[in-house]
Amino acid sequence: MWWKHSVVYEIYPRSFKDSNNDGIGDINGIISKLDYLEYLGINVIWLCPVYPTPNKDNGYDISDYMNINPEFGTLDAFNVLIKEAKKRGINIMMDIVANHTSSDHKWFKEAKKSRDNTYHNYYVFKDSGDAPPSDLQSIFLNSAWTYNKETKEYYLHMFDEDQPDLNWHYQPVREEIYKMLQYWIDLGIKGFRFDVIDLIAKEIDDNIIGDGPLLHEYIKEMSKKVLKKAHLITVGEAWGATPEKAKMYSNPDQSEFSMIFNFQHSLLDQEPDKEKWDLKELDLLDLKKVFNEQQTELYNKGWNSLFWNNHDLPRIVSRWGNDQHYHIESAKMLATLLHFMQGTPYIYQGEEIGMTNNVFESIEDYRDIETLNMIKDRLNKDIDMKDILESIRVKGRDNARTPFQWNESKYAGFSEHKPWIEVNQNYKTINAEQQMSDKNSILEHYRKLISFRRKSNYKEIIEKGSFKMMFNDSNQIFAYERQYFDQKIIVLCNFYSNSLQLPREFTYNEVICNNYEVTQKKVSKLRPYESIVLDVSNQ
Ligand code: GLC
Ligand code: CA
Repeated sequence: MWWKHSVVYEIYPRSFKDSNNDGIGDINGIISKLDYLEYLGINVIWLCPVYPTPNKDNGYDISDYMNINPEFGTLDAFNVLIKEAKKRGINIMMDIVANHTSSDHKWFKEAKKSRDNTYHNYYVFKDSGDAPPSDLQSIFLNSAWTYNKETKEYYLHMFDEDQPDLNWHYQPVREEIYKMLQYWIDLGIKGFRFDVIDLIAKEIDDNIIGDGPLLHEYIKEMSKKVLKKAHLITVGEAWGATPEKAKMYSNPDQSEFSMIFNFQHSLLDQEPDKEKWDLKELDLLDLKKVFNEQQTELYNKGWNSLFWNNHDLPRIVSRWGNDQHYHIESAKMLATLLHFMQGTPYIYQGEEIGMTNNVFESIEDYRDIETLNMIKDRLNKDIDMKDILESIRVKGRDNARTPFQWNESKYAGFSEHKPWIEVNQNYKTINAEQQMSDKNSILEHYRKLISFRRKSNYKEIIEKGSFKMMFNDSNQIFAYERQYFDQKIIVLCNFYSNSLQLPREFTYNEVICNNYEVTQKKVSKLRPYESIVLDVSNQ
């Protein structure tokens, strides 16, 4: 299974590279940066949605599944992208948003006309008189039900009202989705990422939204009819997943997906029972527990995806690293910690150069629909604007969506036109061009990590070796051992800004990877955010 030794790079096309200077990233922009991606060493691109869309949720509201957003280019340009990427050994993974469509999709425009329209059953409508069927809230903080005058019913939307949920229980809907998947496979794409897949099988009358009873049946059907025979890399987004569920989704018999995104780790600093905006300090012991379970429980029984970032999450170096005093050290440590584990790593654009959260001054700078809804909601609750802005700076999705920082020219080399969203002001010090000429840069560190997994003497142990957590009780050190036949490596990471003594000292054959200079023959302490990977085979 080729994706077991692959590294995926996520592109948020709007913010990656603008080729025609209208301030919006596009497909030709991506094509112009394929050499950079080849240099980085990745071999799969996960392309966030590139379909026609009214852009309420930046493409996660699709109005036509079988075409390309004119802002991004044409189908011809897309075909060139597939071909040019292939020349460089890179496969394309499409983002499939099939829990809902845009309200501009022709299916919905038909569906809402009348109760006996052919497409009516494609969506979830309810006749509940004058009041919504329930007080269910959408994930974007408004009611999940919106009234449709024409049919005198409410329709369901788990996100914005312009993102009506599809009715997966109606077989013609599933068939439409399979047809669409086949269309992209025939064009030459090699993978899919399935947006909020755990929501598709909701049973609204029973109040079940996530993990509906028929969820795995539908995924199996999709796999059997389309995915399996195409030898794709497939990953489902599942916010409510646990290792137990991950085993089903990523069953080695390939009856479902290659893997899922399990978000347990990224929910650890959230205050329980509060909104996602309320964060607390991360307890390292919690993080160790979650990774330990994922690594050991899925060993030979499933497959992990490894990620810190995506277009919905704050930048990891600002969140759990230290983007002020140990920017380079902590970015490298976090990368090392993840990349020596078993699974398929996903790098989100800009992570490889240590891009940080933004510091927008005013709410006018924000673009994300979730953030804008949250502002409205909190202002209604009389929460202070200062506090609102603070929460957004920590957790808002626009943190990850500022333009990629290519170089130190105006607009960071992303475009010559004012971008659709402000550039992060630190682009003069944090950019790809500068890091390409510095062998100690974060970028060069990522290149090394990728090459260890893709082509090195450590390839097999990284892909297949067993995993053992070390120093379980330490709330400062994240350390683990990997073993494969006679080969053994140890990964030691200091998660904090103080130096610390290791519980024991290590002799080694070789330092495989480090973020500080190492001269001593024995390793007995770690400097701030130090990470060091040792070959200790036969020691
Ligand atoms: C997923 C996407 C997110 C989007 C949502 C609705 O969580 O990653 O960006 O807003 O689904 O499609
Ligand atoms: Ca453009």
